[in-house]
Amino acid sequence: MLRNFFKNQYMITTGLGLMISKLWQKMWLPSQACRSMGTGMMLSSWATSSIEEVAVAAPEGTRWLQLYIYKDREVTKSLVQRAEKAGYKGIFVTVDTPFLGKRFDDIRNRFQLPPHLRMKNFETNDLAFSSEKGYGEDSGLSVYVAEAIDPSINWEDLDWLRGLTSLPIVAKGILRGDDAKEAVKRGVNGILVSNHGARQLDGVPATIEVLPEIVEAVEGKVEVFLDGGVRKGTDVLKALAFGARAVFIGRPVIWGLAYQGEEGVKEVLQILKEEFQLAMALSGLSHLLLLDPFNWRRQRWNTMGVLPHWL
Ligand SMILES: Cc1cc2nc3c(=O)[nH]c(=O)nc-3n(C[C@H](O)[C@H](O)[C@H](O)COP(=O)(O)O)c2cc1C
Repeated sequence: MLRNFFKNQYMITTGLGLMISKLWQKMWLPSQACRSMGTGMMLSSWATSSIEEVAVAAPEGTRWLQLYIYKDREVTKSLVQRAEKAGYKGIFVTVDTPFLGKRFDDIRNRFQLPPHLRMKNFETNDLAFSSEKGYGEDSGLSVYVAEAIDPSINWEDLDWLRGLTSLPIVAKGILRGDDAKEAVKRGVNGILVSNHGARQLDGVPATIEVLPEIVEAVEGKVEVFLDGGVRKGTDVLKALAFGARAVFIGRPVIWGLAYQGEEGVKEVLQILKEEFQLAMALSGLSHLLLLDPFNWRRQRWNTMGVLPHWL
């Protein structure tokens, strides 16, 4: 137990990432919060602030772009190029959304954006999911995805993306070891073990359950991250113990925003950080390398070495 934990607090920041996406909010609030808390932020293709607006709002922050593969590959290409130009550090390509999952609330509410909001990365009403377009009685988002997103996305699309950009690419939405292996073959730099916050398919496994299989499968060749259900410092610790390099959070950011805007997001991150520190201390861990003695699964592949430049 007594390993002078407090000398080693520096490593905490490497364990936390932050995923924020498609919040129908102004994106610079979370991006500034992330910057001041020393973590990064992933911006959704569908955000209601543009790639460039977020870059201007938090120029020093580490930003990554979440990418959807559009039927119109020129649209997809332009998102990637804009992210490169605006100094984003990586592309997280979502591979689990060839169709939108059945979201009963969205259907019941005939979900669409309120009139003052658009997906700011796009010009046309169709691509910007503007309420001016009109989406009838269905979930507007489901109609949007069916019209715009490519349901035939496959491994060749990862090859195409690899050829398009020199930015690091992370496949977001992998839940199986064999898929992870294939993604590595296609040249990705990382895997985000994600079930889309269980919003796509009812009954999917929890990401923490499949994480060890994926860590094993990639044999240390690429970074492995996890999102989904990370709510407490102990969740972070468990994910790192199972071999994730960092975790991402989605909904807690929305709660922080709803509670108190940028300050609320900072508070969410601060709580997680403190809980994580406490969990380490109470587990007798003064450094992440010592996760092994806690008797959780050994980090066989992840050496917890120096972070690559894009994280
Ligand atoms: C409101 C909301 C919007 C989301 N939008 C996107 C999106 O545009 N693209 C994407 O890849 N994932 C999206 N996700 C999934 C998140 O990226 C992430 O995988 C998930 O929220 C993590 O789980 P957590 O919310 O339990 O932390 C969204 C999730 C939520 C809750």
